Amino acid sequence: MRTIDWVDGAIEIIDQTLLPDKLTILRLTSVDRLIDAIERLAVRGAPALGVAGAFGAALASRTAVPAAVPAAIERIATARPTAVNLARCARRAGDRLAEGPEAVLAEALLIRDEEIAASLEMGRRGADLVIDRCGPAATVLTHCNTGALAAVTGGTALAAVVELHRRGTLAGVIASETRPLLQGARLTAWELGAAGVPFRLAVDGAGPFLMARGEVDAVILGSDRICANGDVVNKIGSYAHALGAKAAGIPFIVVAPESTIDPDTPSGAAVTIEDRGPEEVVAFGTRAVAPPATRAVNPAFDVTPAALVTAIVTDRRTIRLDLGERP
Ligand code: MRU
Repeated sequence: MRTIDWVDGAIEIIDQTLLPDKLTILRLTSVDRLIDAIERLAVRGAPALGVAGAFGAALASRTAVPAAVPAAIERIATARPTAVNLARCARRAGDRLAEGPEAVLAEALLIRDEEIAASLEMGRRGADLVIDRCGPAATVLTHCNTGALAAVTGGTALAAVVELHRRGTLAGVIASETRPLLQGARLTAWELGAAGVPFRLAVDGAGPFLMARGEVDAVILGSDRICANGDVVNKIGSYAHALGAKAAGIPFIVVAPESTIDPDTPSGAAVTIEDRGPEEVVAFGTRAVAPPATRAVNPAFDVTPAALVTAIVTDRRTIRLDLGERP
């Protein structure tokens, strides 16, 4: 099953807000519905957002009056600000507009197929690196959700984790729950369970302590934007795991497709970090946990400085930041 696809003239996605309770396919037939799905995180994760942006451009080219199509594509491109894949892929597909809607769709389908191929390659390369650094029985810690749900199939860091398991070289996984929207608890746990991978769930704050106690051999996670200097933007909580990994002397490995590397962003300081407002923080799911009128700060992403990153594995190369290499 694909997380996102183009089916009979519309976009179909797995509604990730309903998992793990319900596996529901949402059919998106308008740009407004797509933008709503992106904002609500019904479709999420950098590669999946890229494909959503590209299919969105195809949808806009078919459904909007011609003069309104470029603006519709820009609305999609900017529906969430941090993952570079969304804007990049929406604009890449939109660049074919002058050739007509079929050309836009052809580009979007190509982007989908590239992401599927990239996941396969990242899985292999990521697993190779973990075995090389940690031996044949590693326990890895992962954060947020980087599996098939974050891409089309396979995923990024989780593709490597599943590949380690397939090769018989994985002792286990610690998945951090990923407050406030629980992508780790709801989505990664669901995917690892379905793949038969042994895992335990931990609260986000437990990560660095588990590393200090020698219970983690490597941290492996994805990215929403990799800057020219090697700074890695990813789900809030990643930076704390990177600091923990540095203190414990274990590798901090980032797995992401080339489409997540952004040479136009010099460093993490230049990235717009989405703030999703207080409601997600003052409540746990739908249940309020903080006193009424509590103010909150809710950055959805953070920046891990390049100096804390051991390596970035893409679908084409392994960039050894610990050896001074840069994207
Ligand atoms: O807010 P989300 O769920 O879209 O954030 C997703 C992440 O931060 C992932 O770690 C990242 O996109 C890499 S996914 C392959």
